[in-house]
Amino acid sequence: MTQSPTDQSSTDQSALSPSPFSAADQRFVAELLGRMTLAEKIGQMTQPEKNSVKPGDVARLGLGSVLSGGGGNPEPNTAQSWRSMVAALIDEAHTSRLQIPLIYGVDAVHGHNNVVGATIFPHNIGLGATHDPDLLRRIGRATALEVAATDVRWAFAPAVSLPQDIRWGRSYEGYSQDHELVSSLASALIEGLRGDAWNSATSVLPSVKHFVADGATDWGSSRRVDRRTLASDRTLSIAQMGQSFVDLLDLGAWQLDQGDASVTEATLRETHLSPYRAAIQAGALNVMVSYSSWLGQKLHGHHHLISEVLKGELGFEGFVVSDWEGVDQLGADYDECVVQSINAGMDMVMVPFDYQRFIASLTRAAQSGRVAQTRIDDAVRRILSVKRALGLFGNPHTDPALLAQVGSDQHRALAREAVSKSLVLLKNDGDVLPLSPTGPALLVAGIDADDLGAQCGGWTVSWMGGRGPVTPGTTILAGLRASLGSDRVVHSPDGHTESRFPVGLVVLAEEPYAEGMGDRSDLGLTPEQMALLERVRANCERLVVLLLCGRPLIVSEQLPQWDALVAAWLPGSEGQGVADVLCGAQPFSGRLSFDWPASHADLPRRPGSRTLFALGDGLVTSVSLTVGSALDGADE
Ligand code: GLC
Repeated sequence: MTQSPTDQSSTDQSALSPSPFSAADQRFVAELLGRMTLAEKIGQMTQPEKNSVKPGDVARLGLGSVLSGGGGNPEPNTAQSWRSMVAALIDEAHTSRLQIPLIYGVDAVHGHNNVVGATIFPHNIGLGATHDPDLLRRIGRATALEVAATDVRWAFAPAVSLPQDIRWGRSYEGYSQDHELVSSLASALIEGLRGDAWNSATSVLPSVKHFVADGATDWGSSRRVDRRTLASDRTLSIAQMGQSFVDLLDLGAWQLDQGDASVTEATLRETHLSPYRAAIQAGALNVMVSYSSWLGQKLHGHHHLISEVLKGELGFEGFVVSDWEGVDQLGADYDECVVQSINAGMDMVMVPFDYQRFIASLTRAAQSGRVAQTRIDDAVRRILSVKRALGLFGNPHTDPALLAQVGSDQHRALAREAVSKSLVLLKNDGDVLPLSPTGPALLVAGIDADDLGAQCGGWTVSWMGGRGPVTPGTTILAGLRASLGSDRVVHSPDGHTESRFPVGLVVLAEEPYAEGMGDRSDLGLTPEQMALLERVRANCERLVVLLLCGRPLIVSEQLPQWDALVAAWLPGSEGQGVADVLCGAQPFSGRLSFDWPASHADLPRRPGSRTLFALGDGLVTSVSLTVGSALDGADE
């Protein structure tokens, strides 16, 4: 369905709150807009990926933004080379006729996570378990400093998804299934990313995503992957996974992500829209549209939800950006897709590869009147207003001295605090936890106890993440050795031991994944993990299981054989925070921000779903007086 040209200014801007843009800024933008050619306006609406941009095109086409997709890293992947890459594009934009500043965007979703050496914070599902907005505000500020250090001023975060079916590979990007908790934590992160003011030198533009109800899709409703065209899918070819695509598809990959949400309008408004209201009140100036559909209509072409609800009813005055190739998914005819999406209210298009095709298509649409000039002007006015609010027209570069902030001890200490507050103690028979700081050795079993990549998860250095020493940090094993002494920690990667131990700790991780690659029909433990558990069970008096997971796993049948269960989620680079709590230097305080289903039959979450544990559950412990402060983790 193609909407008739819509005049954005005609939509009732019933915003009761004052505009986020000053009258002086509005005059500045109006004057600049009046001098722009159609080509320069369309250039501002175009966001290619950095590996696609031809030298000189930023200036020649007046491109408004460039992004790094997951893993879109310079070589070498260091904070300095990130800054050199981004600064060069900013400088090139400054040579364009009107010198309109470029804004660079990255997925800084748990720290500046593409950058080797950056502080990697816990993923959102763990931060949700902290229930601590002040912590999120401090994480937002620390993340902004590390992002701004590389001359980047736009982070595609926070996701305000409300995952209803945790078989979804993006569950861990959601803070919670409770929209009020999501609203509170997302607003705090936005405030942290902003800092004192949007035009401060280290503010970073958040992108509230993915609009709307991205976490409410129905199993089997996604049409993202066609097995027949896998080989030619440029985006999926970026995703380096340890298994073949076909194997992953057989496990359920891409069954939920980018699918169709069949929730009622009442549910959409009361639940999924709620965090966007909060984010706008917190000052959000950018929203990213979801790939998914609502009641069969793709969000990327949804005029009612984008223009009438988000921009109209909610009074959103920032700009709306598409997701990666999201416009292309609207249909077979690309020109039709562009017309529908821009007329629906899309202001900037993330067009990672064929940006010149997009520019030509929108130019045709504007010249033919299928997209009204007023719609183009509204989009560009929004983009320029946000750049003005960020102070980019002044000095477009940040202070290179900020590079000292990347991976700083202070930020790592903050991440360590966040890890400790994110752990949820779900079972603790006989108070086996916290571990005794003295006495017999501890058996730590499983390769995942000593794997930075496993504890960081997806969106870490690469799009999908991956096992191994992907970035500097402290593994859980290193943290335990720092806390208990190396001689009191015996690591058995496969669980085999020659002797018995009073306590055995088994660390089990999901294989890292991102987006639909992580959709899974089976959330149970693998046969290899079950065998490891049996080996350790046979050789220890007390068995503690710690899960490194992007969502609750189905463990109801195995739980009775365990003395303790800890959900550590995806804690990031500072594994010492795990040891601090396991060894009593910090208390267990985390509480579930998701329901923990009893069985696969209880998925998706719906009235009547049985839970093994409920949202809000979590056992607490006091600080062990005999441990004192944990030693610093040994960075690997
Ligand atoms: C991805 C994700 C989105 C991300 C964007 C840029 O496909 O859906 O969350 O911000 O593309 O990497």
